[in-house]
Amino acid sequence: MESSSFLYSPLTLRGLTLNNRLFMAPMCQYSAVDGLVQPWHRRHYAERAVGGVGLVIVEATAVQPCGRISPQDLGLWNDAQTEAFRPLVDDAHAAGTKIGVQIAHAGRKASTYAWGPKSGAVPPEDGGWTVVSTGTAPFDPTYPVPVALTHEQILAVIADFAATAQRAVAAGFDTVEIHGAHGYLIHQFLSPLTNKRTDQWGGTAENRFRLAIEVTRAIRKVLPSTMPLMIRLSATDWMDGGWDVDQTVALLNILKTEGVDFADISSGGAVPGAKMTIGPGYQVPLAARVKRETGLLVGTVGLITETTQAESILASGDADVILMGRQLLRDPYYPLRQAPADHRNVPQQYKRAF
Ligand SMILES: Cc1cc2nc3c(=O)[nH]c(=O)nc-3n(C[C@H](O)[C@H](O)[C@H](O)COP(=O)(O)O)c2cc1C
Repeated sequence: MESSSFLYSPLTLRGLTLNNRLFMAPMCQYSAVDGLVQPWHRRHYAERAVGGVGLVIVEATAVQPCGRISPQDLGLWNDAQTEAFRPLVDDAHAAGTKIGVQIAHAGRKASTYAWGPKSGAVPPEDGGWTVVSTGTAPFDPTYPVPVALTHEQILAVIADFAATAQRAVAAGFDTVEIHGAHGYLIHQFLSPLTNKRTDQWGGTAENRFRLAIEVTRAIRKVLPSTMPLMIRLSATDWMDGGWDVDQTVALLNILKTEGVDFADISSGGAVPGAKMTIGPGYQVPLAARVKRETGLLVGTVGLITETTQAESILASGDADVILMGRQLLRDPYYPLRQAPADHRNVPQQYKRAF
């Protein structure tokens, strides 16, 4: 790499070249109305785009109304939502930054309160709805009790993931990330802890993988051939008998042949009570194994807050990309302030400050 910095050197994903390898992790703002982008979202994402990340990934955006985590989630299931995203995407591009969107279905973790003082299931009188999952077990006793999806409803979920991806393309996004992590619907199908089905969508690994594979296949069909497709997976449930790195690798080796270009490796979220030790870069070893055993381009996320830390992860070959979440909430201009002078993507308007 001809650069003083791994983090601030460019990366090409399929036909998309990014200025650097520091991505903004998807982070729900729970500030939408009827799934529509609001002024808050435009300001929030534009700031991080000006701040010089390589890629902004817009928060979990629902493919169906019942797939929203909270009533305030963004959605991309109708034309009005597509139109409302357009100026937000244009703002990022005007700052010289690429932008993608994470598309999601929360399954049994839908219809919950975003912020306190109330928590758990949102009742219908407060805008809540009936949630769906692999079966009828709630995440925990405070969450909504789901209805088990029928075969036809699963096919509709797949079609709606594809329709949302198509809307993302229409809105001008540069890439799409499938949310397959954190105990949301796709992860509910993947994990043996949450998928007790006995039909073709549950049981064997092949059956549990099916939804993720079919969603990937359907999305790939509607994306331009030059547009990269990313997926976020929890690499482990941190629980005996649960989803683990071996299964993550097996799945990604299939998804690679279905046109996934990038794996964003996170962990946890399927079931309450998982035991994990959280500290700086605690998910890096998961990403490193996935990278080694799939050959995919891989991102790592989770308590990576310093440039030296990020550079050493990339230098050691454990990952290709660093995703930062909360650090960019604290400091949207982190990349501009930290990048070596010859790698800063400073907007013309601000050049006199750098
Ligand atoms: C406010 C907030 C909202 C989040 N929303 C999402 C989301 O929409 N999708 C997702 O995959 N992860 C979400 N996460 C997890 C982050 O993407 C990230 O993986 C996590 O915060 C760890 O990275 P960090 O230590 O750099 O913040 C969220 C985290 C925070 C703090």
